[in-house]
Parts: sequence; C-alpha cells; structure tokens
Amino acid sequence: MHSSPSCRLRPSSTNTWRLDLANAKIKRIAILGATGSIGQSTIDVVLRHPDRFKVETLTANTNAHQLAVLCEVLSPSTVCMADGEAAAQLSRLLEKKGIRAEVLTGEEGLIACATHPSVDSVMAAIVGAAGLKSTLAACQAGKTVLLANKEALVMSGALLIEAIQQGGATLLPIDSEHNAIFQCLAPHTRADLRSKGVRRIILTASGGPFRTRARDSLARVTPDEACAHPKWVMGRKISVDSATMMNKGLEIIEAHWLFGAPREQIEVVIHPQSVVHSMVEYVDGSVIAQLGNPDMRTPIAHALAFPDRIESGVESLNLPAIGGLNFEKPDTNQFPAIRLAYEALQAGGTAPIVLNAANEMAVASFLSGKLPFLAITQVIENVLQGSAPEPVSGIEHVLAVDSMARELAAIAIQRACERR
Ligand SMILES: NC(=O)c1ccc[n+]([C@@H]2O[C@H](COP(=O)([O-])OP(=O)(O)OC[C@H]3O[C@@H](n4cnc5c(N)ncnc54)[C@H](OP(=O)(O)O)[C@@H]3O)[C@@H](O)[C@H]2O)c1
Repeated sequence: MHSSPSCRLRPSSTNTWRLDLANAKIKRIAILGATGSIGQSTIDVVLRHPDRFKVETLTANTNAHQLAVLCEVLSPSTVCMADGEAAAQLSRLLEKKGIRAEVLTGEEGLIACATHPSVDSVMAAIVGAAGLKSTLAACQAGKTVLLANKEALVMSGALLIEAIQQGGATLLPIDSEHNAIFQCLAPHTRADLRSKGVRRIILTASGGPFRTRARDSLARVTPDEACAHPKWVMGRKISVDSATMMNKGLEIIEAHWLFGAPREQIEVVIHPQSVVHSMVEYVDGSVIAQLGNPDMRTPIAHALAFPDRIESGVESLNLPAIGGLNFEKPDTNQFPAIRLAYEALQAGGTAPIVLNAANEMAVASFLSGKLPFLAITQVIENVLQGSAPEPVSGIEHVLAVDSMARELAAIAIQRACERR
C-alpha cells in the first residue's frame, strides 16, 4: 500500500513523517455502482467535502432515474448505464434537464468510467461478478481503488494483486472489517504478517438476522426477513449473504488476498453489537481493535481521504449507552457457509470462483422467491463438490469457470426447487 498520488507522506527535518499539503489537490472520483447502498454513502461523504473531492464519473445498471438525479447534483463528465435500454433512457432524461454528460453503456462503458484519465480514485461498488472487469481495469490503470466489490477479489485475488503491483495501483479496503484490519495493521499491510509479529486476524461478524434462531425454523424465511439486518442497511444481495453468513465466508477469502494472511491466521468471532469492526492480535498478546458505530461512511471516509482523516457524518460512539460488548464462537452447523469458504480457500485455484458463482445464483433465486433459504448453502456445497479445483491461468479462465459454475448451480437450484 502506498499513499495517494495527490497527498503524499514525506520525511520532515525532524525525521518524522508529515503530510505534504502543499501538493494536495482535489481528488477526482469514479463511483462504480453509484445508485447502490455503498454508492449513496460515498456520495454523502463526498458532498460534505466539496473542497477535496469532485465526482468525475458515475455508473449504474438499470436505475436511470436515480442516476439522472445524481448527475444534477454532481455534474460528472461521463456516466455509464451497464444496461443498453437504461443508457438510452438516461440520455433522454439528461437532455430534458439540459445536463451535459457523456453517456456510455455496457462493460466497455464501465471500464471507460473506471479508467478515465482524470480519475484519481475509483470506488468499486458494483455488486457481484459484474464488477470484476471494471475493478481489474482500474487496478491495471494504476488508480487508487477503494474496494467494496469483494466478489471481484474472491474470484480473482491473484490476478487483482498482480494487476495492482504491475499497474502501480493502491488498494484500500472498504468492507468495514477489512478497513478495520487495515487500520490496525498499517503500515505492515501485505508484508509477511508473521515477520511483523502478527499472530491472528480476527474478523467480527454480527451473526445476521438469524443468529439466535434454530436452523429448522429457517426453512420458510422470506427474502424480506433475510434482508432485515439488525445492524446494517445494505443492498439485498449482501444482506442475504449476511443472513447465511456467506458474507463472512467471502470476507475470509478477501482478508487472505488483501493482507497475504494464510487460512490458519484468519478467525471469525460473532459480535452482535457490530461496534468492534475487527481486530489484529500480535505475538506479544496485544490485540488492536477498530471501533465505531455501524455506518459505512466511516470506512468510506477513511479510504477517500487516506492518509488524512475527514469528517464523515457518523455519530460519536456512545459506549455507556451500548453498555456491553459480547463475543461468541460461530456455529458452523448453523452457518455452513463459513466452513464452505474455508474449504474453498484451502482448495485454492478455481474453488473460490465456483463458491462465489454458486452463491450469486442461489441468492438471486432465493430473492426471486424460488429457492428456500436453507437450500442456498446446499446448492453451493453441491456445486463445489461437482467441480475439481484447478490453477487459475488468467481472466478468461476466471470468466469461463464462473459461467461453468453458474450452469451447475442452475441445475442444482432446479433440483432443489423440485424437492420443495
Ligand atoms: N452495503 C454495504 O453496507 C456493503 C458493505 C461492505 C461491502 N459491500 C459490498 O459492496 C458492493 C455493493 O454493495 P451494495 O450493498 O451497495 O449493493 P446494491 O445496493 O445492490 O448496489 C449495487 C450497485 O451495482 C449496480 N449494479 C448491479 N448490477 C450491475 C451490473 N450487472 N452491471 C453494472 N452495475 C450493476 C447497481 O445499479 P442499479 O441500481 O442500476 O441496479 C447499484 O448501483 C457489494 O460487493 C457488497 O458486497 C457492501
């Protein structure tokens, strides 16, 4: 990890490090997935600091009306709707409002927004595998990449890390847990953790809406029940991932790639209050934690301004009002997703691609009311068992395995729905 291009750390005469504010300039931002939960929180933080940030490009998939409103507020030079019809609709809306912005579409358009020559920092907040190519392109183009799109890293960790190194990019984690670990680890990030005295990375997990429910009672839960997270307001896919705890599974793999941590060094602990966002234990017994209210504007502000600190709109933490912080061991019988993710990480190669693709398919099927909740992890396990892991040879291989796993998942989903 290194400092942003606009605001570097330099040695001062007293041999300490200070910010070279004289060279600071406005950061120009791309927001991929601007209409989503992370996109909206990013815009909230950006609008608090017009002296620091200017939004250059915005992207969405189908929500042209919302993107048109964002164009009115943020005046980007370039926008992209991944969906062709939505792009045409956005062009009409912008023309009516008299707003000038170049409207692009498709994967090419997403990549053009991610690699726009004026952009310094890219918020990668498209949900799922759909964000992979634009995130990879931003890394290759040497941007500062603020990574929310964990699925991209799960699918192609080695390729993304290689692209970051070759492209001279900077990767800053947005997931609250990984952003917390980054804060507890810095400046050791992606160095050999053992030689830096790190014993364990401890990922905290709220346990989701079904933490205290017996597994049998979850057979008939609805998408709305699964999306009603007790602590975080998020998009529907990640909300279901939190309910199955596959979100934590994906985060185990994400931590492996972000911090170069082996499987045995990454642990999960349930922490229902979602106040401790994660911890790092050192060999001397010190455990460093990052705390804060559960609000994504904190990690977003941290990464947007890094290495500065800026106001995010998040309220001060009131520990006496919270009263107590609890921690529990996760129950992997109740939540098999954690076990499946550890197994995929252990198997390596293409296994995490298969895990992610099967999960995306199963969650989409659950959200559309077809697949029962408990069948989500059964489908993933079936697909993993049916595909032998092999070494990843490149991005085309990643995409081929992703589509093969989606075909297997479609068959497994069909069978599970027939058994219903
Ligand atoms: N929400 C959180 O608190 C949180 C926390 C940590 C990590 N994350 C991660 O951040 C990412 C985004 O999560 P979210 O909760 O913000 O999701 P979300 O609310 O569902 O938003 C997803 C965004 O991606 C766009 N999108 C969807 N499909 C697309 C496609 N095929 N091509 C291009 N764009 C597409 C959507 O556009 P439309 O609106 O037009 O559909 C929307 O802008 C996920 O990877 C998630 O795991 C989220």
